Amino acid sequence: MEKRQQWGSKLGFLLAAVGSAVGLGNFWKFPYVMGQGGGALFLIIYLLCIILVGVPVLVAELMIGKRNQKNAVASLKSEFPERPFFIGGWLGFITAFLILSFYTVIAGWCMYYTIASLTGKLAFASQSQSVDHFLSFTTGNYLPLVFLILFIVLNVGVLLGGVKEGIEKAAKILMPILVAIVFLLIIRALTLGDGVKEGLAFMFKPDFSAITPNLVLTALGLAFFKLSLGMGTMITYGSYLKPESNVVKSSFQIAFFDTLIAVLAGLAIFPTVFAMGFDVSSGPSLAFITIPALLNQLPFGQVFGVLFFFALTVAALTSSISIYEVIIAFLSEEFKKSRKYVIIVSSVIITVLGILVSVSFTDVIPGVQYDLLDSLDLLTSVFFMPLGGLIIVLGAGWALKRSTFLDELGNNIFNKILYVFVVMAPFIISFIFVLGVVDFLSKY
Ligand code: PHE
Repeated sequence: MEKRQQWGSKLGFLLAAVGSAVGLGNFWKFPYVMGQGGGALFLIIYLLCIILVGVPVLVAELMIGKRNQKNAVASLKSEFPERPFFIGGWLGFITAFLILSFYTVIAGWCMYYTIASLTGKLAFASQSQSVDHFLSFTTGNYLPLVFLILFIVLNVGVLLGGVKEGIEKAAKILMPILVAIVFLLIIRALTLGDGVKEGLAFMFKPDFSAITPNLVLTALGLAFFKLSLGMGTMITYGSYLKPESNVVKSSFQIAFFDTLIAVLAGLAIFPTVFAMGFDVSSGPSLAFITIPALLNQLPFGQVFGVLFFFALTVAALTSSISIYEVIIAFLSEEFKKSRKYVIIVSSVIITVLGILVSVSFTDVIPGVQYDLLDSLDLLTSVFFMPLGGLIIVLGAGWALKRSTFLDELGNNIFNKILYVFVVMAPFIISFIFVLGVVDFLSKY
């Protein structure tokens, strides 16, 4: 049998895993969800979710992947023989398709917006022009489909190279570019003068009265989405690790960098939003409507517009390849097909799903307009990923012996505490999930 692929270096793995975590979630989803969730309070709950649930699940996933050196379903099967934990792997496989079907669409928008800012098409005089442009672009023509397909082709290009020469190499080139752009954007935002104070107050001054179970569930779902958890990505990435790798250290590094970049993205976006007196709770279109309108009114706005949307595209690419890899590792290993073959087959399916999502914004079928993106996003972040994470961490905390856990990760006081977190995580997830869903349903 062909030797299984592995990461080439520690740094390469770290960049690929951070690249998976840092994505549209940081620049597109985090700011708008935080905007709707009221700012600082949401940020605090989110951070708690990352520490209490995110890191334990991340450690569990990387550990299970590394121990078993197989795709997510097979790793769960061999870790817990004769127990049904592999269902979490199957759920992840389905979730991967569902996420990709909308992720690729939004990434396509980012590509279009990069080019549109480059060619000066986003020179709006008012916010309403920006709204019109966004609506006519997403609902009106074939362009979103062209960019959707282009983005999928980019993914295929990287994935054909394999784990080390494709994914790892792309991350090594793209991640430093991303970080450099984020810093440029923050410097721009923090030197705006107006709005900086309100922006910072919004992010860091909590209003505790606004807490609801539904808000906590949203934060939990975002934590799963952000750290690429509960759907097999981190099991799969963990399975390319060498036995001597330290998954605990890596997990903290991944969670730290991802959270840092989410907060930094907030620092770049909120002062800008407040500086011009726009609505922070405008929802998913925040990045596409508000940002271009704002940038236009600033000196060198066009340059920053190009940089912003290019950064989004880069971040999206290093994440989408990690979602793809769940599918590719599973299909190629279980059905003994070549990588190339499964990449092509799965890309055809993903393209069809992406087209469906993209077309759902238009009125091709008169009278039927249904926001598929919103439903898929909710279904995956709030239901499937926490459920997948619950199954995995239930396995790691309750089916696996404590001694195995400590032997694997190192028997020290730190890992003993971490183990308690892993054991607790299923309760926390279930608790938030049940209360949140009840709260959510009571609104209907
Ligand atoms: N973490 C990515 C983001 O924030 C999304 C993602 C989800 C990636 C699930 C992989 C798996 O954009």
